[in-house]
Amino acid sequence: MQISLQHQVALVTGGSSGIGAAVAAALAKAGAAVAINYHSQREPAQKLADKIVADGGKAIAVGADVGSQADVDRMFAQTLDAFGRLDILVANSGLQRDAGIDDMTLDDWNTVINTNLTGQFLCAQAAIRQFTRQDIQPNGSRARGKIIHMSSVHQRVPWAGHVNYAASKGGVDLLMQSLAQEVSERGIRVNSIAPGAIATPINQENTKGEAGEKLLELIPYGRIGDVEDVANATVWLASDLSDYVVGTTLFIDGGMSVYPEFRDNG
Ligand code: BGC
Repeated sequence: MQISLQHQVALVTGGSSGIGAAVAAALAKAGAAVAINYHSQREPAQKLADKIVADGGKAIAVGADVGSQADVDRMFAQTLDAFGRLDILVANSGLQRDAGIDDMTLDDWNTVINTNLTGQFLCAQAAIRQFTRQDIQPNGSRARGKIIHMSSVHQRVPWAGHVNYAASKGGVDLLMQSLAQEVSERGIRVNSIAPGAIATPINQENTKGEAGEKLLELIPYGRIGDVEDVANATVWLASDLSDYVVGTTLFIDGGMSVYPEFRDNG
């Protein structure tokens, strides 16, 4: 079976590295035209777009801070200018500012909430507005539009030393479910993906060497995830193969969220 996203346009936020870059590449491989958003790292996003185009696909790199309304408006306008419509939003931008509660500053809190939660709200809102005003393409998707929120196992697993991050992802969960409840009747599918420990720049210190070994104790399946593990599932969730999947979270975590501490009888 082949998954095709031909004639569809995708916007991937936070696409210059890690999970976002792999998702953008995978969506392009499945045939979608892709707008790859970056915040500070223009060069890798542009390089990825160039590679997709060199391989016969369609892609652009678009700069924006997803926590800024003006930037998000500009990013959507640029995507529509380039490709004329939008079918898939992967709201993936995310960051960490880790600190124990005694040391966490308001800036640490606001920075994480602004990108990880407000950014997902602003992008989802802009996507829903666009999905609602455009026609369904006869040769496109069954859905009017699809939103995939990139969440985390930490929407379920509390995380000491990271209360800002866990709170942002807990917020993403109910943002996603509430949106799904509100806009499914328009033919818009809203879902989340919750990755566990995936080897990316956000957690490179924790996934290598001794720290990596320790991390494996939390992963019953016995390996750190690859960005492709998440990218492959994202392509499926963006495609009509998952057309009846609405308002749900797909955990991609090697079992990290199933309480591995209880393996040996608790
Ligand atoms: C975080 C990573 C962490 C993983 C599992 C992710 O959401 O960004 O830093 O390794 O969750 O704890």
